[in-house]
Amino acid sequence: HVHVLRCPDAYRGLYLDGRAAAREAIGRVAARGESFAAFFFEAMPSCAGQVILPGGYLRDVCEAFRDCGALCVADEVQTGFGRPGCSFWGFEAEGVIPDIVTLGKGIGNGFPMGAAVATRDVAEKFANGMEYFNSNGGCNAACVAGSAVLDVIREQGLQSNAERIGRYLLRELEQLATRTSVVGDVRGRGLFIGVEIVMSQASKVPAPHVADWVVMACMSSCRVLLSTDGPCGNVIKIKPPLCFSMENADSLLEALGEVLLEDLPERLPQLLHHDAEAAVARDKLGKIRALLPDREPLSAGGTAAVLSGRSREELPGGATDAGGVAGVTAGGRSRGCRSARILRSLAGHALSAALGALLSSKLRGGWRGLRGGAWNCRWLAKLWTPLTDHSSARVSSEG
Ligand SMILES: Cc1ncc(COP(=O)(O)O)c(C=O)c1O
Repeated sequence: HVHVLRCPDAYRGLYLDGRAAAREAIGRVAARGESFAAFFFEAMPSCAGQVILPGGYLRDVCEAFRDCGALCVADEVQTGFGRPGCSFWGFEAEGVIPDIVTLGKGIGNGFPMGAAVATRDVAEKFANGMEYFNSNGGCNAACVAGSAVLDVIREQGLQSNAERIGRYLLRELEQLATRTSVVGDVRGRGLFIGVEIVMSQASKVPAPHVADWVVMACMSSCRVLLSTDGPCGNVIKIKPPLCFSMENADSLLEALGEVLLEDLPERLPQLLHHDAEAAVARDKLGKIRALLPDREPLSAGGTAAVLSGRSREELPGGATDAGGVAGVTAGGRSRGCRSARILRSLAGHALSAALGALLSSKLRGGWRGLRGGAWNCRWLAKLWTPLTDHSSARVSSEG
């Protein structure tokens, strides 16, 4: 079972009390005679819209979950390896020591690698004959890449670079916000920055159409790549490589300034019209959801609480997903768990066949839209063509 805590929104003053949020989740689970096994979090929720948690929030939540016997698990995939600038890890900046830390992405600087680090106490629980197997576990080449990445971060002072450039960007972006009505909030730590685009600074209503337009204009006019995130998709995320220089920062600021101050005003009325319609639709949906009874959490073999921001759907248990913290109850219902696994695996097979058919037909047609460019396309073509020619030819020919 997964319970989602609403992500704090300091800009609008919402859900700021971590202790109350944790107690509410713990009470709800206790009423069913269960307890939490783990609390998963990003110390700086990223897909939730580049969120900086209110001071002490994470400490309070972790303390509450630990008091009821749960482990605290930090996901440092997006936030670790010096990105916060003031610290190497996101959790350090929040004054929290997790029991388990999960690592990925930046750990190999592009080389596929992941790792989980645990306290000795937790790790020793696995030394009981339980077998964990992974084909690529302990891959030497990945470890060499990971080791080189750590050397480069230290030797090139990339953590302090993140601090210095991040501070400069935040200051300049705050300045820019005083010259346009659509930048509602500028927040961040190191090279982890969010610019929240709103219909007006007074209303604080999210403006995803404006945000998307700004991102596309930066790409097409200035060749600067940005993207959006957050529950409404209206937060421009700025999370460049840690070697981002002062010169790079100035190019980015110039592009954003040009687009926001010079190009946007002409298009703004039309974009705001779309955003107003979207806001009405969101409001209606919210009212309908408020009338629905809380749903039982989905059975997945345990209970967890999570801060997550990508899904815009209401999550099981009646909690609305808005950003990224969780807890897990031990001992879920095993029958539900098994059937969920079987369903997932069936869905996986169907998805593989459909994806294979789609890719092979697109690749034969010379499609080059996949991320990763031509090399990835050739690799995928090699992988998928024999599979799909053999097993999914019908699906493929029907497109
Ligand atoms: C915050 C976060 N956690 C975990 C993951 C998954 O990482 P991996 O693909 O290395 O399993 C991602 C991937 O985007 C992520 O952004």
